[in-house]
Amino acid sequence: MTLAVTPLSPVFGARIDGVDLGHLDDATFDQLYAAWLKHHVLVLRDQTISDPQFEAFSAHLGTLDPPPNQGAGRKSPPGFPNLYVISNKKDPAGEPVGALGDGEASWHTDMSYLQDPPAASMLISRILPAWGGDTYFCSMPAALASLPAALRARIASLSIKHDGTYDSGGNIRKGMQANDDPSTSAGTLHPAIIAHPESGVKSLYLGRRRNAYVAGLPLQDSEALLDGLWSYAALPENTYCHKWRIGDVVLWDNRTTMHRRDAFDPASERTMHRSQIKAKGALNRTLMTS
Ligand code: SIN
Repeated sequence: MTLAVTPLSPVFGARIDGVDLGHLDDATFDQLYAAWLKHHVLVLRDQTISDPQFEAFSAHLGTLDPPPNQGAGRKSPPGFPNLYVISNKKDPAGEPVGALGDGEASWHTDMSYLQDPPAASMLISRILPAWGGDTYFCSMPAALASLPAALRARIASLSIKHDGTYDSGGNIRKGMQANDDPSTSAGTLHPAIIAHPESGVKSLYLGRRRNAYVAGLPLQDSEALLDGLWSYAALPENTYCHKWRIGDVVLWDNRTTMHRRDAFDPASERTMHRSQIKAKGALNRTLMTS
């Protein structure tokens, strides 16, 4: 296959043409992987792949993580426990078949409440609503580069707690207790600046704003510092908006990007399937400090 790479913006992201993810040879896979490392977000359109093909390609990238525990619990398509359903559809008993409903999902990087979060995530659009539901990505190396030097120096040895209480839709994760005190809520500490284990590229690593906490600081100082950092996190020039078509596949690097989603038409269905992929072997420990 001849793979064509077209940048989506001057900063990050690329559209890939000429690839059928259901029938990928090793040489094309290697080119695709290199493009992902370089551009951080890849968009592949018109992919007519089934869930087994989507899962097989995901597993080629690394070890699959089960879906996150969201407000709706862990939602998978029947028979695919490692895939995740994001959907506002309900079954005949009124139970959501997927997570996140039809509301906005705020900026986050996936599952960073874990000690060892997935390196990559990949979405495929299955059913799209009449309006809304765009997904936005921002570049975290660009966010880091935009920090004033003094602010960057201040956070160089700091760690931030990534909250595990709430999902990106604002729902309490199933089985968790509500806790809105960032200094005591459940979560995991990660370095504020991380170095990508394969490319070495450094990123600001924020996870999500809600209940974030800078370790060791009085809460008020932590809040002020985080507000300052977040003001550089998704500057318009460092952001890409993806407008979905059926069969779009978007693959992103959770070490170098964050993402959010717009709310959408509650009267129509939006269903996406997602995989969460740990880096391979020794690269599994993704979050190396600067
Ligand atoms: C997510 O992966 O956080 C949800 C993105 C989306 O629904 O577009």
